Amino acid sequence: MVPHQLWFEPEKKEYLKRTNYSNYFDMENTFQQDYKLSKKERQRLHKHPSFLIWFTGLSGSGKSTLANLVELELHKLGHSTYTLDGDNIRRGINKNLTFSAEDRTENIRRISEIAHLMIDAGVITLGAFISPYMKDRENIKKTVGASNFIEIYVNTSLEECERRDVKGLYKKARAGEIHNMTGISAPYEAPTQPDLEIATENETTEMSLKKIMRFLTQKAL
Ligand code: ADX
Repeated sequence: MVPHQLWFEPEKKEYLKRTNYSNYFDMENTFQQDYKLSKKERQRLHKHPSFLIWFTGLSGSGKSTLANLVELELHKLGHSTYTLDGDNIRRGINKNLTFSAEDRTENIRRISEIAHLMIDAGVITLGAFISPYMKDRENIKKTVGASNFIEIYVNTSLEECERRDVKGLYKKARAGEIHNMTGISAPYEAPTQPDLEIATENETTEMSLKKIMRFLTQKAL
């Protein structure tokens, strides 16, 4: 039986071969263990609901900056939080992944599973990842549950990201030193119906932060 969790339907065979994922099928011989303490009780202890706030956008769009500020605000309100950030995650648990389309999908798949666990632990989780593929973002929603997923599109144009070029990556990509650079040599599929869109070029970060906090207070907290 093919586990439905494998997202790589067309490339499945190749993927299984490459990653020796044949062991994946051992999952058939594992059994869900139920624990007495549930998410509800953990949420009661934290005194707030737990969910995932997902920031998507180009590199340099301002995802990490905004996630940082939102987490601080939530913390000040006494909420338990944790932020998963693409740059950090790719230096640790996902350091074996490249920026190929397939590895980006695997990057987001692992993060969505981690976020799912953190939500179960009762923590408000923030994710700041380019997550350029619509199908991958749809799958996060499936993994954590649609009602636990808030998608924020940090909409900054490529021109502006390239002008900022805080990490110097766009310059390297234009010089051909970096391959698969999102926006230059790899695609970014913008969300068509995000829960919230932040156009960073038209407002200050303080204004964006206020918008996000207002949205969270009305919809989720
Ligand atoms: S994702 O596409 O798989 O979601 P992720 O958010 O984890 O990407 O990592 C993006 C970060 O990796 C960028 O902010 C940038 O600092 C760095 N990076 C290095 N190479 C690339 C590349 N080819 N494309 C995009 N980002 C890159």
